[in-house]
Amino acid sequence: MAVDTAIQTDDAAYRGALVNPYGARYATVADAVAIDHVVREAFGASAPKTSSARDMKRRNTTYIVATRGTNRNGEDANVGSEGNGGFSRRLRSILSVSLGSSEPQRVMSNIVGLVGIWTAADQAHIVVIATRPNRRGHGVGELLLIATMTEALKVGTANATLEVRKSNLVARSLYRKYGFSDVGVRRQYYHDNREDAIIMSTPSFSDLGYRRSLRHRFTSYFAARGQTELQVDPMQYLALPE
Ligand SMILES: CC(C)(COP(=O)(O)OP(=O)(O)OC[C@H]1O[C@@H](n2cnc3c(N)ncnc32)[C@H](O)[C@@H]1OP(=O)(O)O)[C@@H](O)C(=O)NCCC(=O)NCCS
Repeated sequence: MAVDTAIQTDDAAYRGALVNPYGARYATVADAVAIDHVVREAFGASAPKTSSARDMKRRNTTYIVATRGTNRNGEDANVGSEGNGGFSRRLRSILSVSLGSSEPQRVMSNIVGLVGIWTAADQAHIVVIATRPNRRGHGVGELLLIATMTEALKVGTANATLEVRKSNLVARSLYRKYGFSDVGVRRQYYHDNREDAIIMSTPSFSDLGYRRSLRHRFTSYFAARGQTELQVDPMQYLALPE
């Protein structure tokens, strides 16, 4: 389904005018190679050691991938360093055939980011979240967080939580934007450099003020980014009492 900004906002200027080049969908085991590649690309040697395929077979673990969609002409809706239109796409595929590539080009298909969510003990825990480096700063991380909150609401968890490196100011800013706040510290949690982890949690999803602020965040995102391909309507679990 596409979340249409015409439904999300009264602003006629947006009506039908914008189409988000990025969408999100549930991952399947067929995406596992691509997911593991994106995780290694984002975290290098400190990447979590688990494989997404194994995680996905475990109950209570869900991966959602952000994908590059198509524009109205049915072409790749490329942004950023990869330019626009079919030529760069053809060039990329020619290059990957003739030069070979360590990146699993075909399976990478159109995945630009991912989030892994573990739900247990009434909490949704973000295990991993990453946007591919050349796609950062275009709302992909935010879309993944919207999908995460939607999943958490759908499953019926009480709130969402995560750990983040103290120095990761970009991620901490993203989380704060969606209502996470610092609730604790795990000292020297990361083995590679003994960095502290900040534990961040959202308020309860039953908190009316928080539900309102999430609705506002989601609406603002779709108004700014445009019609977005999603499998689950993020608004359907955020009904407010009359
Ligand atoms: C964290 C990460 C997922 C953000 O993804 P992204 O697609 O670039 O994020 P978005 O474009 O959706 O930006 C959303 C918000 O993130 C924050 N943000 C993004 N880029 C930022 C930057 N360069 N500086 C500060 N804040 C930034 C802002 O709060 C931004 O909201 P704004 O646009 O209103 O300012 C991405 O940087 C990443 O993959 N990092 C490496 C992996 C990682 O650290 N994961 C988190 C582990 S806990």
